[in-house]
Amino acid sequence: MKRSLGARRFIYPLPVLMVGSYDENGKPDVCNVGWGGICCSEPPCVMLGLHPSRKTTSNIRASQAFTVGIPSACHEVVADYFGCVTAKVTPDKMEKSGMHVVPSEHVNAPMIEEFKLTLECKVAKMEQFGSHIQIIGEIVDVLADEEILNEEGGVDITKLDPILVDPSADTYHRVGECIGKIFHDGLALK
Ligand SMILES: Cc1cc2nc3c(=O)[nH]c(=O)nc-3n(C[C@H](O)[C@H](O)[C@H](O)COP(=O)(O)O)c2cc1C
Repeated sequence: MKRSLGARRFIYPLPVLMVGSYDENGKPDVCNVGWGGICCSEPPCVMLGLHPSRKTTSNIRASQAFTVGIPSACHEVVADYFGCVTAKVTPDKMEKSGMHVVPSEHVNAPMIEEFKLTLECKVAKMEQFGSHIQIIGEIVDVLADEEILNEEGGVDITKLDPILVDPSADTYHRVGECIGKIFHDGLALK
């Protein structure tokens, strides 16, 4: 028996994306974003749903660039901080975070040194839909710490140890064990 839960924002799990941008004076900001993900293969693109009231939204509109840092479980407290505090009210948000900010290599946006994986993006499209601005960013490069790479040069998800969100319980989680192989296991039913 299934029970209707109504129109809820339930996709499991949600990512924790740390979106970095510069304001009009070149001051860095980082914002926690759960409404986001990969939305296009070619060119490789990400989509973010950002509320117009976020400082990050006006930053990205002006600079036309942003970074997406993927925090690890060890960064849970600071990742949540970036979602609780706005640079509009707390101008020293970044200093208080204790994180180290560096300019990204390929776009006009800051990145956090401590995050082990960062996507560098330039804005391809911004459009309001409903309550949020939908931002599509083309990924121009991905920067990874050597320590999270496997022997083939790919990212090892267990070494990255990314944070996931349960949108119903409002809790942060870790990735579990590997249960199968993509484009392989389903072939058993072909
Ligand atoms: C787990 C989590 C997910 C969030 N997801 C989003 C989101 O997808 N879009 C959004 O506009 N705000 C989201 N927020 C809220 C912003 O991160 C928050 O308002 C932040 O303080 C904005 O910072 P800024 O004004 O300095 O950009 C989220 C917050 C948390 C804690």
